[in-house]
Amino acid sequence: MSLGRVSTILTVLFVIGAYLIIQWPISQVLPEATDHAASIDAIFKFMLVGSWAVFLIVQGFLLYFVIRYRRRPEEPPEALGAQIHGNTRLELLWTLIPAGFLVVLTAVSYKVYADIIATPAHAYQIDAVAYQFGWQCDHPEYKITETSTCHMPVDTEITVHLQSRDVIHSFWVPEFRVKQDVVPGLHNVMHFKTTRIGAYHLICAELCGYGHSAMRASLFVMSRPDFATWVKQQQQQASGAVSADLSFKNDIQPIFQQHCAACHIATQLGGLNLGSYQGLLKGGSIVSGPIIKARDHAHSVLFKMISPSGPWPGGNRMPLGGPYLQPSEINRIAAWIDQGAKDS
Ligand code: CUA
Repeated sequence: MSLGRVSTILTVLFVIGAYLIIQWPISQVLPEATDHAASIDAIFKFMLVGSWAVFLIVQGFLLYFVIRYRRRPEEPPEALGAQIHGNTRLELLWTLIPAGFLVVLTAVSYKVYADIIATPAHAYQIDAVAYQFGWQCDHPEYKITETSTCHMPVDTEITVHLQSRDVIHSFWVPEFRVKQDVVPGLHNVMHFKTTRIGAYHLICAELCGYGHSAMRASLFVMSRPDFATWVKQQQQQASGAVSADLSFKNDIQPIFQQHCAACHIATQLGGLNLGSYQGLLKGGSIVSGPIIKARDHAHSVLFKMISPSGPWPGGNRMPLGGPYLQPSEINRIAAWIDQGAKDS
């Protein structure tokens, strides 16, 4: 078979493969839920077509030459083929064509990337806070904080401000086709326009500790009227969230049992027993009691240790290694102290 015929076969294979790749409906496999998704899928197809061409040229001609120039039985074992040194035209071609492909790829990718990191002032602002091992979404405009869920309206430009309370995490929503590291001390921003109503997974894509694989939140893209209703419900709940008569036994002990038991109840770390009201009055070997100052949560040691303003940067980090006390639980403890820190 001649070189010309092999080239023709490879060209035909390339055209068929390229056509199938371009026609492939990615959005049926994984929905495209932002304005970036279609562009990123197009870049992906562009790279796949390029890879298909490289694969055919390298593997196709390799196979052809292996067969065409194999050693024949009548040839002596030490026979050498023709020795060729340099071919300027060929070398220019295999340098310039891939270089041109990479320049186009860079230009197309940069346009999408610039749009992802843009920060238009009119976009709806969301603060996504990552911690070991979960997500919190703050809506500064409505003063709403949600944990393990994140709601946003459809057909809306969204800017997500990423913050970490502890280690490096990564904000990933496969259907949005966007992924960005969440680095402590660094203000990373992501921008996109939601285009599809639905429920999605917000997944942590950076190994961040033993709970990494379970670090997920539910992300909801809602119609605008539904989102407005949700905002109203959240605000109503927040205004009447803390009941007026909190007791240690019913409201505080369950929080301690869930988050503090492993260290401050089971092993009484620091001499501190959070399992009983008497333990709070007694204090521990590091801090003498009482660790609560009735009606003054700001000066209570218990609150200082877990409050957003210290003693660690970025807010509460108890219990060590997470899952941390949630803002709603910290608020509940503060409210209980302010109500007089009643035993029952
Ligand atoms: Cu956070 Cu992995």
